[in-house]
Amino acid sequence: MPMITIRQERLADDAAREALLDRSYGPSRFAKTSQRLREDRLPAGGLSFVATEGRKIVGTVRLWNVMAGAGRAALLLGPLAVDPAQRSRGVGAALVSRAIDAAKKLGHRAILLVGDESYYARFGFSAEKTGSLWMPGPYEQQRLLGLELVPGALDEARGLIAATGAPAPKPDLAALVAAETRAVTARTRRAA
Ligand SMILES: CC(C)(COP(=O)(O)OP(=O)(O)OC[C@H]1O[C@@H](n2cnc3c(N)ncnc32)[C@H](O)[C@@H]1OP(=O)(O)O)[C@@H](O)C(=O)NCCC(=O)NCCS
Repeated sequence: MPMITIRQERLADDAAREALLDRSYGPSRFAKTSQRLREDRLPAGGLSFVATEGRKIVGTVRLWNVMAGAGRAALLLGPLAVDPAQRSRGVGAALVSRAIDAAKKLGHRAILLVGDESYYARFGFSAEKTGSLWMPGPYEQQRLLGLELVPGALDEARGLIAATGAPAPKPDLAALVAAETRAVTARTRRAA
């Protein structure tokens, strides 16, 4: 059986990653409050990872730049998903551990997420210092978890968690229409 490898996500992984997220979460993934902090943004630099088995994407995790209240930079983890056929083999743990290590090396101070403490406690996440933080939409407060990469980074954390990532480039519709018009004109000329 091919080995599972964790590596940085690449542009070419996008379709397989989206399909994996659809299988793992269904359409409700777009309604999550965490998604409000991700949409129209790029993930934090160097902090998107996939698990691969051969050429197949079997797991994904990303980290995003946020503010945990005014003046306190942090990261938001998610979505995390592992192919149902590959679960309980430690792939999820390997992805989360790799993301945490990489974030630490890059000098980030804390990671937040909305998820089950029963899963994320093994990495050190807890709700201990997140009680005065809030997400920009509905969520269960006890599922808002934090992990300090630098001791004390979430001391007295208070306020709204807000997206601070770079804006994702939008497709230029005018350019697409212009290109299509040119193509149609060229085809019509050739046919004439
Ligand atoms: C959560 C998820 C990423 C774990 O991936 P994985 O590769 O199976 O994770 P690991 O192998 O590291 O850990 C598996 C263990 O975590 C447990 N686990 C999985 N989800 C859990 C949860 N929500 N709460 C508590 N434990 C959980 C499993 O039962 C398993 O226990 P076992 O080792 O005793 O069998 C995967 O189940 C998944 O993609 N789920 C759907 C998406 C999702 O819910 N993601 C966010 C979780 S809050």
